[in-house]
Amino acid sequence: MVDLLGRPIRDLRVSVTDSCNFRCTYCLPSEAFPRDYAFLKPDQLLRFSDIELVVAALLPLGLQKVKITGGEPLLRPLLVELIALLKGRWPGLEVALITNGHHLAPLVKRIRKAGLDSVTVSLDALDPTVFGRMTGNAHRLDTVLAGIEEAHREFEQVKINTVLIRGENDDQVEALAKYFQRPGFALRFIEYMDVGSLNRWRRDQVVTGAEVLERLQKLKNLFPLPKRHPGETSERWVWSEAEGEVGFINSVSRPFCAECVRVRLSADGKLYTCLFSNRSTDLKPVLLTGNLAEVTQTITAVWKKRDDRYSEQRQSLAGTTRQEMFTLGG
Ligand code: GTP
Ligand code: 5AD
Ligand code: SF4
Ligand code: SF4
Repeated sequence: MVDLLGRPIRDLRVSVTDSCNFRCTYCLPSEAFPRDYAFLKPDQLLRFSDIELVVAALLPLGLQKVKITGGEPLLRPLLVELIALLKGRWPGLEVALITNGHHLAPLVKRIRKAGLDSVTVSLDALDPTVFGRMTGNAHRLDTVLAGIEEAHREFEQVKINTVLIRGENDDQVEALAKYFQRPGFALRFIEYMDVGSLNRWRRDQVVTGAEVLERLQKLKNLFPLPKRHPGETSERWVWSEAEGEVGFINSVSRPFCAECVRVRLSADGKLYTCLFSNRSTDLKPVLLTGNLAEVTQTITAVWKKRDDRYSEQRQSLAGTTRQEMFTLGG
């Protein structure tokens, strides 16, 4: 089952809540999202059984991986149970989590035991002032770093996601690289994207992966690694076997739409076929029927009509309204 451009579904990214305790300037800028901003209410969120049904519907279509995201997914009560549910029923399905790390440390052992395969933590700076400016709160860097270290003890590899914005945190590149130059870490630099419209993205704020690679090569030689699978977002490099990986997610300078095998589900049950889409399909009605065949049929019908490739068409599509990042979790 492939879309109009021949792409299958391999990954599901599921947002379990749109709420977040951070206010990253590029995602939930605090001018637009004050502390009392009304995120979705608990009764608007998909139930775990709904998510389970979507996964069951996607598996025969070729699904291999579920990425749990938010908002901040660890704010969803009982998230460990969702992980246990998915891994208990489908041990071969890869289940991954992306978090801002603030609530991670005390949960690491439990999510590991529930069967989670891997963790990614977003971290944009090691300097507390820069971290505070980027995340809208200056006091939480130590908590995030503690969560990262705890995850590093429990998981084979921890991915660190750094979104670089020129003039904001691009001075953090070398410090981050040195800090995570250890086995068991993959530090990934992400090009700042024009997701949503509230972050007032400008092309000149994007720090390209090529530019960062050049800077890092001055610290020490990096060697390219082969792709593990088609559709991988990150171009991977390694310092040496004993020092861990560095990756570049170059979705602005080198779009990877041709291999995009990801489908996205918002916390309130809307299916999106592109991170930049302004259209979605509400799955709630069909999920309420509990009918697996109908869910499969609905998703298949949507996917077969898919022709999204926003990042490749950015220049001609700029200015269109788009979903905000926190509703889809990347
Ligand atoms: P893992 O391999 O599971 O870590 O997944 P990933 O690297 O694809 O995703 P992660 O959740 O760590 O996201 C990394 C960055 O890539 C985020 O900024 C995402 O928004 C971005 N990203 C992930 N998938 C896509 C995609 O399909 N299109 C675009 N344009 N960006 C994406
Ligand atoms: N551009 C690039 N990456 C972004 N993220 C959030 N907003 C943006 C953006 N505008 C990242 C988060 C997280 C991942 C899911 O997406 O930092 O690491
Ligand atoms: Fe929250 Fe992640 Fe958005 Fe930052 S990027 S505001 S941590 S959802
Ligand atoms: Fe996929 Fe859309 Fe990102 Fe292209 S822009 S890689 S189609 S999510």
